[in-house]
Amino acid sequence: MGNVTVIDHPLVQRDLAILRDRNTPNQLFRTVLSRVAGMMAFVVTHDFAVTTYQLETPLERTKGLRLKNDIVIVPVLRAGLGMVEGFMNVLPEARVGHVGLYRDEETLEPVDYYSKFPKTLAKSLVLLIDPMLATGGSGKAALTFLKTKGAKNIRFVCLVASPAGIKIVEKNHPDVPIYCASVDRGLNRRGYILPGLGDAGDRVFGTE
Ligand code: PRP
Ligand code: URA
Repeated sequence: MGNVTVIDHPLVQRDLAILRDRNTPNQLFRTVLSRVAGMMAFVVTHDFAVTTYQLETPLERTKGLRLKNDIVIVPVLRAGLGMVEGFMNVLPEARVGHVGLYRDEETLEPVDYYSKFPKTLAKSLVLLIDPMLATGGSGKAALTFLKTKGAKNIRFVCLVASPAGIKIVEKNHPDVPIYCASVDRGLNRRGYILPGLGDAGDRVFGTE
């Protein structure tokens, strides 16, 4: 798992526990998912290149920093939408693309139904966000899709990953670093992560 960074910050792990808890209601789930996404964004962007510029404080001239590259955040619909606000809070200059995928409940294969990206995709740093990396089918498909649209520099941010999902993404997209808050034990027969947090999209949108 050479491409994986597990973000084990205590505040991230505290929020992950709230999200795992079956008794956490939808409203709190949304709030905490957004908050933890913002904290993860902080770590995921730690080595982003910056440029300097001159500015005036009320007292004198000094040097400031700004991000060098354009950034595109791409949530995988639906559950990834729950992480967008957290990312945008710390990256307000980012643009947002969308990939719509759902897992067929029988085959567990991803089915795509929507996509829209900014024109700057090819020259941007792209952050693909989805709370769950389970069988890896959706992550693999979303990354392939992004690359066919020109994306070159991509990081994949999920909250909970399975060992099998990581293996699939690493095999098919060895150039893409993966960030998560936990690598869980495994998958059940229906492709759900164990211990996981259940169906992330359903818990974000109250459709369970
Ligand atoms: C979830 C999740 C991922 C996918 C992960 O989406 O948000 O996109 O499953 O599973 P995989 O690694 O086995 O492909 P889901 O298909 O439930 O769609 P939804 O977000 O619309 O509910
Ligand atoms: N998708 C989810 O939302 N949860 C899982 O555990 C697996 C796939």
